[in-house]
Amino acid sequence: MKVEFFRHQLGEINLRRFEKVMNSIFLTTGEEVGLFEDKFASYLDQNHAVGLTSATAALHLSLLALGVGHGDEVITTPLTFVATSLAIMHVGAQPVMVDVEPETGNIDVSRIGAVITPRTKAIIPVHLYGQMIDMIKLSELARKSGLLIVEDAAHCLEGSRDGIRVGELADAACFSFYATKSITCGEGGAVTTNDSELASKLRKLRLHGMSTDAADRYTKLYRHYDVDVEGWKYNMSNLQAALLMDQIDMIEQWRQRREQISLYYRAAFSSVDGLEMLQLLGGVTQSHLMFTILVNHEKRDIILWALQDEGVGVAVNYRPLHLYTLFREKLGSREGDFPMAEMIGSRTISLPLYPGLQDTEIDFVVDKVKKVVKRIG
Ligand SMILES: Cc1ncc(COP(=O)(O)O)c(C=O)c1O
Repeated sequence: MKVEFFRHQLGEINLRRFEKVMNSIFLTTGEEVGLFEDKFASYLDQNHAVGLTSATAALHLSLLALGVGHGDEVITTPLTFVATSLAIMHVGAQPVMVDVEPETGNIDVSRIGAVITPRTKAIIPVHLYGQMIDMIKLSELARKSGLLIVEDAAHCLEGSRDGIRVGELADAACFSFYATKSITCGEGGAVTTNDSELASKLRKLRLHGMSTDAADRYTKLYRHYDVDVEGWKYNMSNLQAALLMDQIDMIEQWRQRREQISLYYRAAFSSVDGLEMLQLLGGVTQSHLMFTILVNHEKRDIILWALQDEGVGVAVNYRPLHLYTLFREKLGSREGDFPMAEMIGSRTISLPLYPGLQDTEIDFVVDKVKKVVKRIG
């Protein structure tokens, strides 16, 4: 038996919608993207959603559209996927990292004040593994210091904390539809915002800075376009939107199934020597996008390989960014700079967690993890 690290949930219903668009004349950004954007924005209770090719594009364009650029600093976490910091560098700004809370792996909001300088423009919090950071506290701090907030909500489409939903207290929130995310079209992303001006800037920036798009020219009387800003090529296509559309209806049901599995894992691992888990906080609706365990840092990779050998799909989310060569060279960061992120990054292993997991597969994962950690850890 082998339990894959991830299996998507795409099926017949998505295929039907995909086929319909495929058999139409218009494959690129058009009506289907518009329909998806409206449905996605309304799911998140936001005024606008802008469909893009990835969350990396979403982070990059949000910073660009909000005027963050050369010479600016953007505060973020080292315990995230590399895209979070790269997006900051794409606009010519400098990532300033702040260590994480050992209990949750999320950026430690109480340490942010100490790194704010006159050059600080924005904060990018990441809701790691689907557990939201304290957005009330963060937005108070941001307001006091005149900083923008762009949420990296790639893990946290479904999240809320103390009644606040993802995107609610931010200038923009960025989502991923990458292959392993809660809804997916293989690769894709979106920004949500309540700011109409920001949304139209994003729409222009996602397509080279052109004043009209192909759908405009095709469906209406031909109009020449102007280009007055330097844009990018990040527009979502109708084909991507078609795959995503009906998945929106499944978001909560799939979240609940992941929560059920996650709680089952927690109970099963609660008294295993050599295995710890991050905390689940009260007052939080967790996306449960990932399930991670923490093992002895000296044995992490051996346990990881042993689990793979036993047929359990695994991943490491994440080794902290400041220790990658790029950031060591660009930011001068080194080991010891962010001890909590290093502690989690050296001990973490992600296990299979997705709604399509069968009960027998879940028990298989539990058995193998217990056995391997007992033997090695
Ligand atoms: C926390 C986080 N931010 C950003 C990204 C980038 O997303 P995308 O692959 O859609 O660009 C990911 C993707 O895995 C992620 O996990």
